[in-house]
Amino acid sequence: MERKATYSSLEPAPETRSALSHAPMLAIESSCDETAVAILADDGRILAERVLSQFADHAPFGGVVPEIAARAHLAALPAMVRMALADAGLAAHDLAGIAATSGPGLIGGLIVGAGFAKGMALATGADFYGINHLEAHALTARLPGLAVAPPGFPYLLLLVSGGHCQLVAIEGVGRYRRLGSTLDDAVGEAFDKVAKLLGLPLPGGPALEALAREGNARAHDLPRPMRGRPGCDFSFSGLKTAVAQLIAPHQNGALPRAIAADIAASFQRAVSEILSDRTAHALAMLPGATALVAAGGVAANQEIRARLAGTAEAAGTILIAPPLRLCTDNAVMVAWAALERRHAGQMGDIATICRPRWPLQELATP
Ligand code: KG4
Ligand code: ZN
Repeated sequence: MERKATYSSLEPAPETRSALSHAPMLAIESSCDETAVAILADDGRILAERVLSQFADHAPFGGVVPEIAARAHLAALPAMVRMALADAGLAAHDLAGIAATSGPGLIGGLIVGAGFAKGMALATGADFYGINHLEAHALTARLPGLAVAPPGFPYLLLLVSGGHCQLVAIEGVGRYRRLGSTLDDAVGEAFDKVAKLLGLPLPGGPALEALAREGNARAHDLPRPMRGRPGCDFSFSGLKTAVAQLIAPHQNGALPRAIAADIAASFQRAVSEILSDRTAHALAMLPGATALVAAGGVAANQEIRARLAGTAEAAGTILIAPPLRLCTDNAVMVAWAALERRHAGQMGDIATICRPRWPLQELATP
């Protein structure tokens, strides 16, 4: 007998919600150089979590090679999905949803991950969710158990990674308003470029942070572009150029470690002050913010975290920074974003296409 829907809101009907209560969500992240798979229960409990770095595949080339990344995702995914299912004690047919990062990112890797997920969804009858990578970073802070209480809407997101540097008002699931972004380099890119100038190994950010611990942050008075300007846009190219000029006289000989450490510490201090200044402006533009959430690989930096905690406190709010493994690229955040969508009654669509560029504010929801 055909049952007619007796509700009209975007919320799932109560009986649907209870049927979904244990319905697991598997997610794949393959937008850059990490192959990640995770499985979450409907309530956000992490049932399986695996990340495989392709770092060694790209190291000889000094950066991520898109074709190598796509092939490595393809080689790793079948075994990683099998292992994640085994970790969770599930069979593929137990899955209610299968999500994959569908942008922004390197198109080859996105197509591999989303194609794999769509194939699984078709074979098992699970729903497919094409998830925006930035939305996944944005919603991670709401993963149950991560903060004392998950932040309610609105909150302010500072997304600082290798490809992104932006401040976004998170006003609801699918409701994102960009308040500011970088005019040139992403902050992680600036860390990586400066690390390279200092002769540090990849990935540059953590290596630079480790070296900075040995240095004096007051040794060099580096510029703080945009600091004090109205609004909350960022710029890092002037800072990067200033660092390059400090290093230039040492080009022909190796840079002495003590000098490199002073430069690293001064650079890190300048970056953390810029981020703090721009974030303070954004908090002033979002007076009802329940929290400041820091996400993306650069949010792993301890000095930046400490300074942002002070910025949040000064604005009368708190900083929520997910643990490091959930700050950098992972699939838990992708599964959680799909669950948030499902909880909001926004079901996935197998027709979602991969987009190398996919700004957060284009995630219009009904
Ligand atoms: O979010 P993520 O893992 O990947 C994307 O870019 O999407 O971020 C990677 C970036 C790299 O630029 C890396 O150097 C930077 O985050 N990073 C750090 C630290 N750990 C990672 N930057 C500064 N300090 C760190 N501890
Ligand atoms: Zn990322």
